Amino acid sequence: MLNEQELMKKQVGERAVDFVEDGMILGLGSGSTAYWMMKKLGERVTKGLSVMGIPTSTRTEGWAKEFGVPLTDFTQVDKIDLAIDGANEIDENLNLTKGGGGSLVREKIVNSLAEKVIIIADKSKMSTTLGHYPLPIEVVPFGMEITANTIAKLGCTPVLRKKNGETYISDNGNYILDCHFKSIPNAQKLHEKLKLIVGVVETGLFLNMTDVVILGSDLGLEIIEAK
Ligand code: 5RP
Repeated sequence: MLNEQELMKKQVGERAVDFVEDGMILGLGSGSTAYWMMKKLGERVTKGLSVMGIPTSTRTEGWAKEFGVPLTDFTQVDKIDLAIDGANEIDENLNLTKGGGGSLVREKIVNSLAEKVIIIADKSKMSTTLGHYPLPIEVVPFGMEITANTIAKLGCTPVLRKKNGETYISDNGNYILDCHFKSIPNAQKLHEKLKLIVGVVETGLFLNMTDVVILGSDLGLEIIEAK
């Protein structure tokens, strides 16, 4: 039996699959909410839907194989019709913090190429201003200490991500620094400053990329379109 939050994830994940049309090239997001989207997508593929997907993590790639969703890559396609992905925090303008699962670089490559981006999440992820969720920043391992010190000067204490007691390594072979800025009133400016730091690969700020958010709450599903 699913708890209330898991049920919400399932509902938003499955609802997003209604937006998928035959022949589409899909961006396949990462995370526990995306899991439900992948499962439903697999069911539709089994019933005859013809799509190809580009996974944003090795975990999602595994689900695609498990559920029978055909995969492709950037040697075969140069555009994506629809990306469906989760998020860690969503502001009123549908700007996002992502990367809680460590897949921010691939997610950003895929989502920025997509003609339409749908974000699936539960209501607890909405906030007026980003910054409640620590911002994940992917950095090159070499010189990571220096990169972290430079990032800290922008107003946070970077924490090197660990998993099972070991330094977490992204699908790209990099490290992730979780940076609690407390409040990010100007996400664009912060993103630009971070991108200028040598050693920073990408930030978890996904700005002006989202077209639709499917939000789950105890009152049901809400579909929010970008203004
Ligand atoms: C991974 C992500 C995920 O989309 C984000 O962490 C949301 O995950 P979940 O659906 O498990 O809350 O950005 O890098």
